[in-house]
Amino acid sequence: MNPTIKKVAILGSGLMGSRIACHFAGIGVQVLLLDMVSPDAKPGDSKAERNKLVNAALQTAIKSNPSPVYTADVPKRISTGNFEDDLSSISTCDWIIEAIVEKLPIKQQLFEKVEQFRKPGTLVSTNTSGIPIQLIAKGRSADFQQHFCGTHFFNPPRYLRLLEIIPTPKTEKWVVDFLMQYGDLFLGKTTVLCKDTPGFIANRIGIYSIMALFETMEKLGLSVDEVEALTGPIIGRPKSATFRTADIVGIDTLVHVAKGLFEHCPHDEAREQFGIPAWLQQMVDKNWLGDKSGQGFFKKTKTAAGEKEILTLDLKTMEYGARKKTKFAAIDAAKPMEDLAERIKTLCAFPDQAGEFYRSFHYNLFAYISNRVPEISGTLQSIDDALKAGFGWEMGAFETWDLLGVEQTVNEMKKAGHVVAPWVDDMIAAGVESFFTVKDGKRFVYAPASGGMESVYNSAQEKAFIVMKNFSGQTIWKNDACRTYHLGDDVLGLEWFTKMGSIGGEVLEGIQTSIGIAEKKYKGLVIANEGANFSAGANVGMIYMLAAQQQFDALDKAIHLFQQSMMRARYSSVPVVVAPHGLSLGGACELSLHADKICAAAETYIGLVELGVGLIPGGGGTKEFVLRAADEMHHDEPETITLKNRFITIATAKVATAAAEAYPMGILRKGRDLVIMNQDRRISAAKHSAMELYDNGYVMPQQRSDIKVLGRTGLGALLAGVHGMEQGGYATAHDALVSRKLAYVMCGGDLSEPALVSEQYLLDLEREAFLSLCGEKKTLERIHSVLTAGRPIRN
Ligand code: NAI
Repeated sequence: MNPTIKKVAILGSGLMGSRIACHFAGIGVQVLLLDMVSPDAKPGDSKAERNKLVNAALQTAIKSNPSPVYTADVPKRISTGNFEDDLSSISTCDWIIEAIVEKLPIKQQLFEKVEQFRKPGTLVSTNTSGIPIQLIAKGRSADFQQHFCGTHFFNPPRYLRLLEIIPTPKTEKWVVDFLMQYGDLFLGKTTVLCKDTPGFIANRIGIYSIMALFETMEKLGLSVDEVEALTGPIIGRPKSATFRTADIVGIDTLVHVAKGLFEHCPHDEAREQFGIPAWLQQMVDKNWLGDKSGQGFFKKTKTAAGEKEILTLDLKTMEYGARKKTKFAAIDAAKPMEDLAERIKTLCAFPDQAGEFYRSFHYNLFAYISNRVPEISGTLQSIDDALKAGFGWEMGAFETWDLLGVEQTVNEMKKAGHVVAPWVDDMIAAGVESFFTVKDGKRFVYAPASGGMESVYNSAQEKAFIVMKNFSGQTIWKNDACRTYHLGDDVLGLEWFTKMGSIGGEVLEGIQTSIGIAEKKYKGLVIANEGANFSAGANVGMIYMLAAQQQFDALDKAIHLFQQSMMRARYSSVPVVVAPHGLSLGGACELSLHADKICAAAETYIGLVELGVGLIPGGGGTKEFVLRAADEMHHDEPETITLKNRFITIATAKVATAAAEAYPMGILRKGRDLVIMNQDRRISAAKHSAMELYDNGYVMPQQRSDIKVLGRTGLGALLAGVHGMEQGGYATAHDALVSRKLAYVMCGGDLSEPALVSEQYLLDLEREAFLSLCGEKKTLERIHSVLTAGRPIRN
């Protein structure tokens, strides 16, 4: 059964409910958001008075950072109300999601009332993180229980990709299948099927991992600053590492969940780990709860000179002190390594204290997860998925174990006194060397119950989830930065592995060569990559070096190569589909603009940001915006306004805060480019788009020579705008200089009247302007700042 979800009711507008509401509204669903009547409202008060609580909560959510909404018009789809006056309206909803306070009797009472108005057959779920799902459903009708499930979103619901689905024995199978699929396809989540066990999967393992880490830290006498350095991006974990994450989540929440696990897991062999260390309890007692109370493991203050300073808590003295720079030889050795797997291996093998920390940290984790199978899940993939999607780990726990060598690690773990689950011994005895393997682009996982390897995906999912690196056995071409694979069905896939996905000479070679190969014997090419972001843009380091050395000929050639590679993508004889995700800036945006089709992940932050570094888009981005503006010019709107809108987008270096926002910015084209909610599906969507374009008779596009440019008519309007911005203090003198060059290119130069020009004409103007800006001292200062401090200065 595949019901359509047109309207959902969200009960509770707190931290989670309000943001879950925004996420549903973001995908086009109508939302009814209900909460308690405002406590200061009296009977007979107006609707606005009675709904003050829910409305205020929704406004707080909408204004919060990071934003829970894709675009500013999303909240229009949310209507609000209260439990006393509006609960009957849930009868119009297809799915009712409860997200009220974590108290069993209160949830049960609310569901009793829900039962009075809910139409039979309507889906119902709870967002509880700790109460057994079966208990919440107790006492409800058979129809209610058959359609009831746990749907555990993570905070913040738009951004954290995990959605745990927890059925009870009474939940109908189609309900579970439907929610698993709906969460994945429409909400963009990694849906993980869980058993109704304490903390489900992610919190059970994640909280264990933190608590075990606390113990290791104490044993080795490490400080908060040291553990923070050891447990962040260096091992593929978020920047907020351990303690900053705890401060964000709330120390009281951490303690509450750990206590809950201690209480509800009496047979857990590692139950003692959930005991609260004295210093942690003290933090709660002192109200040092993290961000919500202004101090936790870290505290923001100001120095005597008035500068911002972050202090760290010393867990031995319980006093705050200046943050200390940490020094570990293991980290010095691993830091330069781009490859996460290589870093983790190096760190875990290091003979110093950091190495000891990593071994203890991982062995604890490995032993624990092995003993949770099949208690919390029979499939190893679910455990890894939950940790990756729920806690932002780049590599799952079983994947890390594979990396370090299962058998060797088990031997070392046993020597160190860890108890590994018998199924791992059985697996090794049967000659299976790793939990995961890849064959012919397909991923297999060891199934402890059957003792065999099973496909991670069913056949439908296999088509939908393409992981490029699984196709390394089908590599068609490669250089030091890129690889081109045959993704099956005669479609090629190109990916690259540069720092921040930057696009330099090798990537451009990859694009041109892959298109050449595809044109000879394939149906099309997909361009994507699987780094944290698609690409931060062109390799500005190279631009800076050439510009600083005044090698303008070499620079001209480099820009020319960039432009030609983009044009190759646009004018090849086979379809080229680009699938960006995350940051897709500057050159990466230009590449996308030249694709036959874009399949962007919902969380794509795309834009032409060159103005920020004192340049204009020089890889065909400016040309493409002029071309699109010309095509958009209508009789009912002055042509200068159409051009001006596009000019402002580039001149303000605007970046879409979600793929959906790239439509009104004119980067994505309605009816042509796609937004893919689940980013793990974008490469497959791109592959299928390429096949579809080819199979419908792909006609190679022809270069344009009919692009209307406005010459002086447009220039006057744009320059007046630049002048206004400068006079008003919104643009620095250098911003104005760069904007004037941009205006010149976008108007086709100083032409006395509008004219029709070719793409190459505009590319030449664009390149000339770009080159001249590379000779500007202030532009070089901006680029230098990006290279050294990670962001441009405003000069
Ligand atoms: P919250 O405290 O921000 O919001 C709780 C909501 O419950 C408020 O809207 C409040 O008005 C309402 N409420 C309080 N007493 C009530 C009563 N007697 N009757 C009806 N409604 C009442 O809580 P939060 O964080 O949004 O949590 C909601 C649910 O989501 C809980 O079950 C929690 O365990 C779960 N959850 C929370 C996560 C988090 O990070 N905060 C993550 C995942 C799940």
